[in-house]
Amino acid sequence: MNKKHLSASLAGEVSLGGQISVHRLGFGAMRLTGDGIWGPPKDRKGALAVLRRAVELDINFIDTADSYGPNVSEELIAEALFPYPAGLVIATKGGWNRPGPNQWTHDASPAHLRKAVEASLKRLRLDRIDVYQLHIPDPAISFEASVETLAELRNEGKIRLVALSNVTQEHIERARKLVPIVSVQNRYSFADREWDYVVDYCERNGIAFIPWYPLGAGKAAGEVLDRIARAHSASPTQIALAWLLHRSPIMLPIPGTSSIEHLEQNVAAASLRLTDEDYQTLSRVPELVASR
Ligand SMILES: NC(=O)c1ccc[n+]([C@@H]2O[C@H](COP(=O)([O-])OP(=O)(O)OC[C@H]3O[C@@H](n4cnc5c(N)ncnc54)[C@H](OP(=O)(O)O)[C@@H]3O)[C@@H](O)[C@H]2O)c1
Repeated sequence: MNKKHLSASLAGEVSLGGQISVHRLGFGAMRLTGDGIWGPPKDRKGALAVLRRAVELDINFIDTADSYGPNVSEELIAEALFPYPAGLVIATKGGWNRPGPNQWTHDASPAHLRKAVEASLKRLRLDRIDVYQLHIPDPAISFEASVETLAELRNEGKIRLVALSNVTQEHIERARKLVPIVSVQNRYSFADREWDYVVDYCERNGIAFIPWYPLGAGKAAGEVLDRIARAHSASPTQIALAWLLHRSPIMLPIPGTSSIEHLEQNVAAASLRLTDEDYQTLSRVPELVASR
């Protein structure tokens, strides 16, 4: 692909709550931290360069969380990009903490979420966070209490738009009774379709769907994916992204990488168009894998 034609804008646009429009290919900033999503990156300069290159390639939606590092991913974003270019949307999350490498603990209590939002505002050097996502429902806290807190923070002007992650349709319906929900972020790819019904629900309700782990699950597809990739002179990961973009106009993939080369490959997928036949073949992969 000619580098001049590399632009996330070629994926089209998706609206966040009818208030902000972003290109339909974003960047996930989790992989910029150290191993196990813990500590600083081995190559700090390289991580900053990836973020700057993402913006040069017209990516205007960056996903992060306070727990990535922890703090490291948000700090890198501010260091690389502040003062932020007009139109850049940073979507961060809270409510799921990182006490050590590859460890997660819940805390979506109102007191913690309030502290977490203040700390993210400081690290990101913002007066208001464009999109704040509840990282995951906390089994020990009423879901309504967590969402109500984000609704209050929105009313106070600290958050512009409220979003959810790792939720069922029932969670989304309960949350929408309290505050408009602009996006939902769950694990999803052509080979990993547990949340198909949530994608459909989001499409019917004008909610953006942000698939996490959009590339990895493709490995299970093996031969089928490789054949389609060869036919398009593309890589398997680019085909996995093209499938997501084809799946629904509310899909907003956020592939994550610490490499400029991989970032450019991922952005090149914005202009890939699958045939209906390729799309259907890939859509049947979970059935194929299950029948083996
Ligand atoms: N809400 C949640 O609970 C949740 C959970 C997980 C992730 N997320 C978000 O979703 C984003 C994406 O998820 P993810 O990072 O788990 O999965 P992913 O984007 O599917 O995969 C990332 C992995 O693929 C590699 N990769 C990226 N581009 C590639 C390419 N073109 N060719 C070959 N390998 C490539 C990366 O390694 P290299 O660095 O070597 O490129 C990395 O190991 C994260 O950054 C984060 O923002 C959210």
